[in-house]
Amino acid sequence: MRIRNRRWLLAERPLGRPILHSDFRWDEGDVDAAALEEGEVLVRVLHLSVDPAQKGWMENVADYVAPTALGEVMRAYGIGQVVVSRAAGMGVGDMVLGYLGWQDYAVQPAAELERIDGDGPLLAHLGILGLTGYTAFFGLNRIAKPFPGDTVVITGAAGAVGLVAGQLAKLAGCHVVGIAGGEDKCRWLVEEIGFDAAVDYRAGPIRKQIRPLVPNGIDVLWDNVGGPTFDNLLPLIATHARVVVCGAIAIYSESSLPPGPSHYMNLVFRRARMEGLIVFDYKEEFPWAYKRLAKWLAEGRLKAPEDVVHGLDQAPAALLRLFEGRNRGKQILSLDAQN
Ligand SMILES: NC(=O)c1ccc[n+]([C@@H]2O[C@H](COP(=O)([O-])OP(=O)(O)OC[C@H]3O[C@@H](n4cnc5c(N)ncnc54)[C@H](OP(=O)(O)O)[C@@H]3O)[C@@H](O)[C@H]2O)c1
Repeated sequence: MRIRNRRWLLAERPLGRPILHSDFRWDEGDVDAAALEEGEVLVRVLHLSVDPAQKGWMENVADYVAPTALGEVMRAYGIGQVVVSRAAGMGVGDMVLGYLGWQDYAVQPAAELERIDGDGPLLAHLGILGLTGYTAFFGLNRIAKPFPGDTVVITGAAGAVGLVAGQLAKLAGCHVVGIAGGEDKCRWLVEEIGFDAAVDYRAGPIRKQIRPLVPNGIDVLWDNVGGPTFDNLLPLIATHARVVVCGAIAIYSESSLPPGPSHYMNLVFRRARMEGLIVFDYKEEFPWAYKRLAKWLAEGRLKAPEDVVHGLDQAPAALLRLFEGRNRGKQILSLDAQN
């Protein structure tokens, strides 16, 4: 049985520059379901996670993920449903998570997929009940270790990870200030999500804007963006501050490395700690994080806004939304065409 398959292939590597539509090539062909090998399944792709890390995968620079080759299907993590199975223990109709890619159908070894058994909302498995949630959960609990009353500042606060990190810090009893692009996003963070305050980094010098909101300094600085925003927050850290380096989207498209955080000596003056985070280091512990996040979500103590773009043809545009600051919450691409 042959099934029509549409897909996006990686055509160019966006090294040292922004992603362009021409970095991807549309391709149509078919998959032969009869050619599945023992242990493989054919999965219909339903929903895909849209992540800043995909730019790094396209560039092939990170050493903690498998390499990508030009001409391969664009890598993406997502949710699908098994339509044909030649694998023991995985049946037709099973919902699965895995690196399915920008395509309608994926042939995968069942061993590389994870069956969705949890009862949380389906899309949340790509966000708050998935890698996004685990990043915030372990970054906060293992690196930031916030105390009640701490002042926590989060950059990229209206994005997927930032929103979860901010809400978890609120649950831990902290005073939480978010930094995001635009007045609307900032108002939304306070009025809808429950942050104590939010600052628009595009509205003026960040340090001047945030200083009155953190009179005793920043105990936990969670950075998703890097660049000048991060550099200008370092002078405001409190004694024994914890600085969590989660990502640096502001520099992912730069043609040269940034000059470095010029205020790093403040780490010495404040006896502070700065530590990087890779979510996969906590893989063994994902199940207990899932249980807690799912409980808090079900109880309404956490919110999980999703920003869904529809249609496989929209995949490059959905990825660009992250770099244009157009998403609010977790960016998802659903393959159904309707809006
Ligand atoms: N270390 C890990 O294990 C791990 C895991 C997952 C994610 N991450 C990192 O965490 C960060 C957030 O990821 P996410 O999935 O939650 O994405 P996201 O925050 O939902 O989306 C990206 C956001 O970044 C902001 N942004 C884009 N360009 C910017 C710029 N030049 N300066 C400042 N802000 C900019 C935009 O918000 P504004 O409108 O506010 O500008 C945009 O909405 C990324 O750096 C990602 O690489 C790390």
